[in-house]
Amino acid sequence: MRFWCWAAATLGIVSGGLHWKPQPSQSLHSSLTRIVISGHFNGSLEPCGCTSPMIGGIRRLATLIDQEREQGSTLVLLTPGSVPSASNASSIGLQQNVMKAEAVAEFAQELRCDVLGVGPDEASYGQGLVSEISQLSGNKALNGVQASPSQVISTSAASHFLIGCCSPPPQMQSNSQVASSGDDPAITAFAAKAKENGEAAILITTASKTSAERLAQLHPSLSLIIYQSLGTATQSPEVVGKTWLVSPGDLGREALVVTYSNNGPVLLKPVPLGPDFANAKKGTEVMDDYLHQVDQAQLLKLWPRSKTIHYVGSKACLSCHRADFNRWHSSAHSHAYLDLLKQGHGLDPDCVKCHVTGLSSTCGFLSQSKTPQLANVTCESCHGPGGAHILNPKWAKMNLGTKVCVTCHTQENSPNFNFATYWLKIKHH
Ligand code: HEC
Ligand code: HEC
Ligand code: HEC
Ligand code: HEC
Repeated sequence: MRFWCWAAATLGIVSGGLHWKPQPSQSLHSSLTRIVISGHFNGSLEPCGCTSPMIGGIRRLATLIDQEREQGSTLVLLTPGSVPSASNASSIGLQQNVMKAEAVAEFAQELRCDVLGVGPDEASYGQGLVSEISQLSGNKALNGVQASPSQVISTSAASHFLIGCCSPPPQMQSNSQVASSGDDPAITAFAAKAKENGEAAILITTASKTSAERLAQLHPSLSLIIYQSLGTATQSPEVVGKTWLVSPGDLGREALVVTYSNNGPVLLKPVPLGPDFANAKKGTEVMDDYLHQVDQAQLLKLWPRSKTIHYVGSKACLSCHRADFNRWHSSAHSHAYLDLLKQGHGLDPDCVKCHVTGLSSTCGFLSQSKTPQLANVTCESCHGPGGAHILNPKWAKMNLGTKVCVTCHTQENSPNFNFATYWLKIKHH
């Protein structure tokens, strides 16, 4: 019996299955904690819906969290900045961003995250949203709107952590003053408290890298500072004294896994959330709930539109431009909206504008049922409305031009776009 238990433990025999997973040795294992750090979604809960392969999204983040938990003792920290600031949002954006921030809070609750950072971006939607986030997350929200860190003690099986969330101290908020040597009493007190209790101090902040470096110099007992930056995640930690400085990058495309020993952080692994991460059930449920709310709110009806001449749909061109029509019909443009529908984003203002025809015209796409001929990227997406041309082609000229492509093939949504190679695929004259 004893031998069997030993063998089972060594070989990793779990409920009838043989798993030859290489595991770190038991003693090493128990003294390590893995910290999953994600966030700064900036509104991209399903980022770059279009890039191939798609990177990011809360469905895949859920899978990473599940996988890391299987590996042993894990803390999960979501950083502030789930949505862009209200000051940059349109009226549709304002409504949709509130739904997104709520979805992230529900995600924190469903995935039992340890901390959900809330920063000035979330706060720009008002105190009501901040309270709602706190409630929906199951009180996992750490308010980082102030420069003095809100804090919480998190315990993994292996270690104790004091986790704080804050905005950059005022003397660091403008670049010209970064050099000022002003110490920050609130962070000093935070670091001292952790030290006294034998906890590792982790500071999550909306500060930039430069400010994070300054914070590390001023507060050498902080073990980890998670700052905010655009672009990709930190590939290898910047170390100031003994403090590690890391950023998970933006748009939630990547997460970081930091491994802690009892002495502090020892390993940093950036994890791009590519297609090798399946969509975990819980992440998918939260995302589907969110998309359902977007549908219910009928946000597309609020899309700003101006008057133009009539759009008529591609079939109206068929009689005179059959070859062009056939070419178009076999291209990806002819099913661009159907692809959105399949993904559940058919009524999502974040996506529809580039996958249909004439969304910003009073005569353009309204819905699949009302204007089926204007769903997808049709002739008129590139050549403009054809209502006059079909009646009198000699007099009413259509738009011609190759510049139109980049209105939809943006850097973010079509990073490999190159006119010459892309045009070859859809060339029709
Ligand atoms: C993705 C954008 C796009 C779509 C969709 C598209 N076209 Fe074009 N079309 C172009 C571009 C770009 C040109 C070439 C313009 C140039 O060479 O300056 C062109 C050229 C043409 C020409 C030749 C004009 C000339 O005399 O050189 C015709 C006719 C035409 N398109 C008709 C259509 C019809 C009909 C459809 C739909 C069945 C369609 N196009 C769909 C972008 C598009
Ligand atoms: C700024 C315009 C734009 C927006 C906004 C946009 N898309 Fe796209 N989408 C594109 C373009 C352009 C492509 C083709 C990219 C390429 O092949 O280079 C594309 C491709 C796709 C594809 C096909 C990918 C494939 O290769 O099979 C899907 C699915 C998709 N988008 C979904 C979405 C979703 C979901 C959203 C909203 C979250 C969205 N798109 C928002 C422009 C956009
Ligand atoms: C009744 C026949 C007819 C229909 C229907 C028609 N076209 Fe044309 N189209 C023409 C003719 C003829 C020309 C050439 C005009 C010229 O040479 O002056 C033309 C030219 C064009 C051109 C080149 C630019 C220009 O205006 O000369 C484009 C682009 C074009 N058509 C797109 C379309 C699209 C898109 C549709 C559908 C919305 C469409 N056409 C429907 C007959 C038609
Ligand atoms: C109204 C927005 C819009 C415009 C304008 C537009 N596209 Fe697209 N394009 C899309 C979308 C959306 C897709 C993805 C469709 C899908 O797969 O669902 C796409 C896909 C493509 C693809 C297929 C990519 C692949 O690998 O299969 C090519 C090629 C392409 N576009 C070329 C062009 C070119 C060239 C132009 C300009 C002449 C252009 N597009 C203008 C939205 C647009």
